[in-house]
Amino acid sequence: MSLLARSALRTTSARIARPFARSFTATVPKMTLDANPTAIIPADVVPLTEEHKAAVLATAPVLAEHGLTVTKQMYKTMLGNNPALRDIFSHSAQTTGVQPLALAQSVHGYAANINDLSPLVPVVIRIAEKHAALGVKPEHYKTVAENLIKALQTVLGDAFTPELQTAWYHAYWALAKIFIEAEANLYSIGHWQGFKEFEIVSRNDESGTISSFEFVPKDKSQLPLKKYKPGQFVTIRVWVDELGCYQNRHYSLSDAPQADKYRVSVKREDAPAGVDVPAGLVSTRVHVLKVGDTIQVAFPVGSFVLPEELPKNVVLFSGGVGITPNLSILNTVTQNPDGPAVSWIQAVRNPEEHVFKTHVDNLVKSSNGKVQAQAYYSEVDSVEGEGIHKGFVDVAALSDDALALADKESLYYVCGPGPFMHAVQNGLVARGVDPKRINIEAFHAGEA
Ligand SMILES: Cc1cc2nc3c(=O)[nH]c(=O)nc-3n(C[C@H](O)[C@H](O)[C@H](O)COP(=O)(O)OP(=O)(O)OC[C@H]3O[C@@H](n4cnc5c(N)ncnc54)[C@H](O)[C@@H]3O)c2cc1C
Ligand code: HEM
Repeated sequence: MSLLARSALRTTSARIARPFARSFTATVPKMTLDANPTAIIPADVVPLTEEHKAAVLATAPVLAEHGLTVTKQMYKTMLGNNPALRDIFSHSAQTTGVQPLALAQSVHGYAANINDLSPLVPVVIRIAEKHAALGVKPEHYKTVAENLIKALQTVLGDAFTPELQTAWYHAYWALAKIFIEAEANLYSIGHWQGFKEFEIVSRNDESGTISSFEFVPKDKSQLPLKKYKPGQFVTIRVWVDELGCYQNRHYSLSDAPQADKYRVSVKREDAPAGVDVPAGLVSTRVHVLKVGDTIQVAFPVGSFVLPEELPKNVVLFSGGVGITPNLSILNTVTQNPDGPAVSWIQAVRNPEEHVFKTHVDNLVKSSNGKVQAQAYYSEVDSVEGEGIHKGFVDVAALSDDALALADKESLYYVCGPGPFMHAVQNGLVARGVDPKRINIEAFHAGEA
């Protein structure tokens, strides 16, 4: 993630605490599956020629420089002219510039890799999952196409020659086709379409800022729930009265799959003291919910998951609230006597924020040595207790055993703040771990 986006995200917020006026009464929209999702692609679109690719590649340097201006312009026009899209896009990611930056980076990455798109496959999968979680439909690609091309014309002016315009028209639709097909596939395997109403059946405050919520489908004919893959996330949407639109956020499921309920654990993003920026829109609204309230939830999706064929060892690195998908993995594999051995490495700031400590300690105790756990406190003067260390996670200092290095097929799952994930990833690679065995879950666009 660029410095610009990071600083925008860090600079937080003034409290918005008005209750959701409409979220619990509004009609839950239904998705309909398109019989032929790619029918939206204009008939004159042709497969990319070598000339098209050369022209698109030639725009990579200019997109590196002006891409953000293009995408900011695009979103301004598109959201202005299509207010219904404000229900899909994150208002905060627009105001902080995170979303225009993510799109600018992906458009530039596409241009730069146009001759061999294989390095982009994991990125495309991740974006398609986010799109599907938010209900992006094939017809939305037409709206984006029109607004993106128009923004390129506005920002690049005469430099965006008719030849480049033609090349980008075909290139855009080639990429859109990949997304539309990937998203159609996700919709076809999704447990339900659109948002479904769930009732909160328990709330547990894990720390001063992180609370867990369990919820069951209001429509009991949906039971038993189909099993999600541990590590996947759902999307929760809330009505934001001040904005006059819905806002959606993704939340990893934080427990092993159960037949009747889901659990998420949400960190409340408060407004920081002394800075005039708003508190998190959705997390603060989720945090006022109580047992008996209704929430709208989209189907589980995500690929931060274990493979079908389980490895012998998994090493789970969590930073802060990034514990959630790893906890789901931990809770699931420890139910399986033939499951992998687990090394659990958790980074928190202080003991108060050491969420799920007792739970993890109990799993370690009952595991006959199959689960080992360590925690790192970064903001304390001293530490006490077995497996508790002072400072940041330092992969270079971890034992071969804690990293399961003897097993060349061990899998690594890393979720937390961007700098934490980068440090762990680099540290693992320096210890000889093949990057292909390292899985990353970024809670903010561009952090992976
Ligand atoms: C796959 C995935 C799984 C996730 N799982 C979890 C999970 O299990 N638990 C969890 O707690 N979160 C999780 N998240 C993060 C979650 O989706 C939200 O991003 C998070 O809750 C913040 O949303 P919000 O609406 O409260 O904040 P937003 O309104 O989106 O704001 C985000 C941050 O930006 C700040 N901000 C807002 N406006 C401005 C501005 N103008 N200038 C500067 N700063 C600003 C806010 O104060 C806040 O800190 C996950 C994300 C992903 C992608
Ligand atoms: C080829 C066209 C497109 C490209 C290249 C693209 C690219 C991206 C990228 C890079 C992200 C950030 C993903 C992340 O979180 O890491 C993203 C997210 C998003 N995209 Fe797209 N996108 C395209 C089309 C669309 C369309 C047609 C829509 C719907 C109108 C859409 C809506 C969104 C939304 C709402 C998000 C935010 C996801 C979130 O909040 O989690 N995108 N897209």
